[in-house]
Amino acid sequence: MDFSPFLICPHCGGSLSREGGSLLCDGHTGRRHCYDIASAGYVNLLPPGKGGNAHTGDDAGMITARTAFLSGGYYDCISDAAADAAWKNLGHAKEDIRFCDAGSGEGYHTRRMACRLGELSGLPVMGCGIDASKKGAAAGAKGCRNLPPSVSLSFAAGNIFSLPVADRSMDVMFSLFAPIPAEEVSRTLRDDGVLVVVAAGPRHLWDLRCLLYDEPREGNAEAATPAGFVLADKQTVRERIHIPDNSTLQALFTMTPFYYRTPESGRARLSETASLDVQIEADIYVFRKEHL
Ligand SMILES: C[S@@+](CC[C@H](N)C(=O)[O-])C[C@H]1O[C@@H](n2cnc3c(N)ncnc32)[C@H](O)[C@@H]1O
Repeated sequence: MDFSPFLICPHCGGSLSREGGSLLCDGHTGRRHCYDIASAGYVNLLPPGKGGNAHTGDDAGMITARTAFLSGGYYDCISDAAADAAWKNLGHAKEDIRFCDAGSGEGYHTRRMACRLGELSGLPVMGCGIDASKKGAAAGAKGCRNLPPSVSLSFAAGNIFSLPVADRSMDVMFSLFAPIPAEEVSRTLRDDGVLVVVAAGPRHLWDLRCLLYDEPREGNAEAATPAGFVLADKQTVRERIHIPDNSTLQALFTMTPFYYRTPESGRARLSETASLDVQIEADIYVFRKEHL
């Protein structure tokens, strides 16, 4: 597997190239830093010291739950809409499309968005998924076996607040249900690039909230515009999905923040529910750099 040429050394910022089973940096500081490629196919680019420990990412249970739920296709409309919004707003003729999915989890949406961008544009697509979770990066890399030849994807464990990605190398930065590292997006995005943010709308998973809580509350109405960016486009994806069995419902529950703040009574109702129709509502924001 080739690793994206825009990945950089988290230690010294030098460019990385593959030598056997490792990525080595260019050694511009006098020392070549070495990162072994894990057997699962990802590379650990978590920065040394404090930055590397800042966030350990989602745990194995979360990653497994997300894989189980997403592979049912329930959220495909979200990654389709995110890729469509990126292509619609990119607007510059290109030889290829380079993107980063910051906080890519187990890479399900990353892979779908890469393939869709390739289909929409007819261009080669080169992308990377970065997540603090090594389990997530491993799952992302494992899922890359059947990609079309024009799509190349790399997965790395990394801290998105210290992105191992070269300056101004990205056409598109995706952030789906993840923290937004505004300064790092600003550094790594080309001046004519786009930041596509997917955030839960106020009534996202409303029927699940009604099941879990006696007094369900709506979520935040609007995502804040990241510093240094302006809003270029916004749309909302709204669909009702049918969850056919309790194990899929439990997988959905486990991958949401509700998992950490649901009372026993709500968990009991969940375990007694055989199937559920659930409204999903995702806001897709497209931001550009402010000065353009
Ligand atoms: C809710 S999940 C969303 C995952 C994926 N984008 C999706 O929509 O399926 C948020 C992800 O952000 C990652 N994350 C949170 N803080 C991070 C950080 N500082 N650096 C890297 N990843 C981070 C978590 O490990 C988790 O996988």
